[in-house]
Amino acid sequence: MIKNSLVKALNEQVNAEFYSAYLYFAMSAYANGAAYKGIANWLAVQAQEETAHAVHIYQHILERGASPSFSDIKAPEGSYTGIKDVFEKTLAHEKLVSGLIDRIATLALEEKDHATYNFISWYVKEQIEEEASAAEILSKINLSGGHPGILYSLDSELGSRTYSNPFGAQD
Ligand code: FEO
Repeated sequence: MIKNSLVKALNEQVNAEFYSAYLYFAMSAYANGAAYKGIANWLAVQAQEETAHAVHIYQHILERGASPSFSDIKAPEGSYTGIKDVFEKTLAHEKLVSGLIDRIATLALEEKDHATYNFISWYVKEQIEEEASAAEILSKINLSGGHPGILYSLDSELGSRTYSNPFGAQD
């Protein structure tokens, strides 16, 4: 039987993942308005992945025989000072999410809930990739020195990202 403390933490994580989706859609809309269509695409795909994370965690709560609970999803900041600002905030946000995931992993160990620990371990690994990809894009933006040609090719590169559900079944 899953402990209430873990159900609460998982419910909070569902909310945090939906917030992440909101945040990346807001950033995508900003990038779209700033004519960075490729970056807008990358961020929209990111938002879809975050939605899949939320659904996956919600399903785990149900599978464990617990009740999902629903609370307000915070509105994201909608204006940015440029794409550097967008990716600085992306990296900062992913670091924050890594902390939330680590907290659930620690709690699962404390409660000796190996099913939740095993479940959340996927996210521990995923967060390494999430932070690394945001950091890589940010370093490319920094290395460009604002050169339009380099930013144009980065935008083209990020425009090729396509969405596929990380868990396969739900789409
Ligand atoms: Fe669902 Fe970006 O972590």
